[in-house]
Amino acid sequence: MSEYRLPDFIKARKRGPYQAPIIREALKLNDVQKSLGRDLFYHVITYGCQANVRDGEVIAGILEEMGYTHTEELGEADIIILNTCAIRDNAEKRVMGEIGFLQNYKRMKPSMILGLCGCMAQEEVVVKRILKSYPVVDLIFGTHNLYELPAMIERIIVDNQKAVSVYSYQGSIFEDMPSVRSLPHKASVMIMDGCDKFCTYCIVPYTRGQQRSRLAEDVIKEVIELRDNGYKEVTLLGQNVNAYGKDIPDNGDFGYLLKKVAETGIERIRFTTSHPWDFTKEMVDAIADYDNIMPFVHLPLQSGNDEILRRMGRRYTSQQYRELFDTLKERVRDVAISTDIIVGFPGETEEQFLDTLKMVEYCKYDNAYSFVFSPRPGTPAAKMEDNEELEVKKERLYRLNDRLGYYSKINNEKWVGKTVKVLLDGPSKNNPEVFCGYTPQQKLVNFTLKEGKVGDIIDVRITEAKKNSLNGEQI
Ligand code: SAH
Ligand code: SF4
Ligand code: F3S
Repeated sequence: MSEYRLPDFIKARKRGPYQAPIIREALKLNDVQKSLGRDLFYHVITYGCQANVRDGEVIAGILEEMGYTHTEELGEADIIILNTCAIRDNAEKRVMGEIGFLQNYKRMKPSMILGLCGCMAQEEVVVKRILKSYPVVDLIFGTHNLYELPAMIERIIVDNQKAVSVYSYQGSIFEDMPSVRSLPHKASVMIMDGCDKFCTYCIVPYTRGQQRSRLAEDVIKEVIELRDNGYKEVTLLGQNVNAYGKDIPDNGDFGYLLKKVAETGIERIRFTTSHPWDFTKEMVDAIADYDNIMPFVHLPLQSGNDEILRRMGRRYTSQQYRELFDTLKERVRDVAISTDIIVGFPGETEEQFLDTLKMVEYCKYDNAYSFVFSPRPGTPAAKMEDNEELEVKKERLYRLNDRLGYYSKINNEKWVGKTVKVLLDGPSKNNPEVFCGYTPQQKLVNFTLKEGKVGDIIDVRITEAKKNSLNGEQI
């Protein structure tokens, strides 16, 4: 096992004054690697957040540089990569189930390579368990070393050896990596990776490394290229976009970046995720002042109780959250706000949970993601005393979702009879005769289309509101 590079949570926790090296053109393929995938097929299965989806696009780009061709058919694939998420236990369980299922394909086609990467690959316990109990996995790499993929695949195919390489360190910034974008009209642009917030329940700071921002000029260059290639929408991605730029001198912060990206003139700009902690006035001004910055903010609350927020390490109070919320509502016309909420944090009492419900009544969110607390090994909250039954937590989640659903519907109903601008994504998955797309407020609209193609911005009159979507017709 010594030839493997395994993850290490103690190293992953390390933080300090750090400016990440920028590595340009890290991907260098030798002649063997350039043709290893010729006549072979790949399939990447991605779980988790948009940052992971973006990594999946880079992985696809690397595999195509090696000559591989994409396939949707698992049975046809010569390499299947599971790009995993570690945020909650059920995310991990699904991946373990998927490995079990993919074993059958491997039996039918022993030459098939089964790989695992992403945030689970950064977890010591997971990697050890896979090496011990899942011999079918031939390839494991982490979030810091996508560029090593060609050398790892070469080792598997040419030397007939397993390849395991995971770094647990602060991390670098990789520029100029190849990628295959999933859509022709909407693109994600990573503006930073990693997180230094260390909310006590969260595994991300361990799996993604220290916060490291890309240079504003590199981000803007990417947005301009996308705009020139016909992209209509970019989403600026980071675990904490508001903290963007704090780790590099003479660059400008997120407020500055938003303005610069808006000035490229690209049609629609979104960003996620905004931690309430670092939200500045300049950011609010930018969202309010530029028409191409969409009036939609995902503002995770997590809990409405100050004591729970303190123990979560969120560093804002419910009052500070409400003030920011009010400012956004006042300053940004027709803004939609969504959130994330965790119920059943260790020690959460019924009373403390009711504070969360009160916040929901106050904020009346447009949309929300809610979760039962899931202890993540190695995080401080996993060691906190937790006496509450899972059934009680589930019941809280149920009550919470009931109110969240009520307000999404109420907010959607406000749009009935109005005409909205929808960026056309294409036919809906369930019914090819109905088309779908999103409004500036990030509301999903299903509508009848008279004329238009993917990427067009269409005027749609809303005829009906549902909890999670709107129906309408092109006018
Ligand atoms: N960076 C974002 C969150 C990314 S994780 C932020 O700070 O807001 C997405 C969501 O998953 C979080 O907002 C949180 O609600 C939820 N989450 C994270 N860790 C969790 C855990 N251990 N158990 C349950 N939910 C969790
Ligand atoms: Fe996790 Fe908190 Fe960082 Fe968000 S800000 S990724 S919840 S540690
Ligand atoms: Fe999951 Fe990693 Fe994203 S844990 S939510 S894929 S940063």
